[in-house]
Amino acid sequence: MRKLTPRDGFQHWSWPLPAAWGLPAGARSDDLALWRRLFISEAKRLGLLLQTLGTPLGEPLWLLRRAGRELGAPCRLVASGFHGEEPAGPWGLLRFLQGVQPAALDAVHLSLLPMVNATGFAAGTRFNAQGDNPNRGYTGLVRPSAEGRLLRQHGPTLASVSQHGVLSCHEDVQADKAYLYAFERGTKPGGQAQRLLQANLRHFEPQPDGMVDGCMVLGGMVFNHHDGSFEDWLFGLGATFAFCVETPGLQGFEERVAAQHDMIAAFVSGPEPGP
Ligand code: NI
Repeated sequence: MRKLTPRDGFQHWSWPLPAAWGLPAGARSDDLALWRRLFISEAKRLGLLLQTLGTPLGEPLWLLRRAGRELGAPCRLVASGFHGEEPAGPWGLLRFLQGVQPAALDAVHLSLLPMVNATGFAAGTRFNAQGDNPNRGYTGLVRPSAEGRLLRQHGPTLASVSQHGVLSCHEDVQADKAYLYAFERGTKPGGQAQRLLQANLRHFEPQPDGMVDGCMVLGGMVFNHHDGSFEDWLFGLGATFAFCVETPGLQGFEERVAAQHDMIAAFVSGPEPGP
């Protein structure tokens, strides 16, 4: 059952990393140094170009890019780590990189913002070290966080690398079922949204129709809810579609990471949207 209490942005959440991953004993999901070390290693292997956009609250905020090799490859952006109590996103993105061969990425111009709220990730808290929500304020509704202000400064670059789609990987620590937010220009979610939802539902039951986190969810999706989030902003800047996927934080960590992995794979390899 969903709790109806508001989310506490300062509550600490962390989970042990699965033993099957072969990492140091006792390693947990909030181990920022370990995540960074593993991520850099995969970025090098795959030939991703790493740019540090800035160091909000003293932590480097990375943008990584890899040019595709196929004519007309779409420009797609995967972002994660906005909320520090939602670690399956950054770990799922790392697991995706660890499992993919470079040639499998040649059909896309892929860009990654893997760790937006590093201070929140290390603390296991939703908010950053200044108590701000790094996924609000992009469209001027409220004042953005330090991370948000930096990303807004890079608006033209981020709009360019996400012009054929943006996927933002989140979790809902109060949920035991899966859902996603879709932003599209049609009147209902299209095929790519359905592919992402089906990837999530390989692991979890769908959130039933009704209200979730103040939004109406129908068929497992919240559609065109303009909340001033990062994905809402990039959709407004012209991205073909934008998705914010949610894995249920009340379920096991390894399964949540597997769901994030599958959704990232579906997004990266998804077909171009039709006209
Ligand atoms: Ni979130």
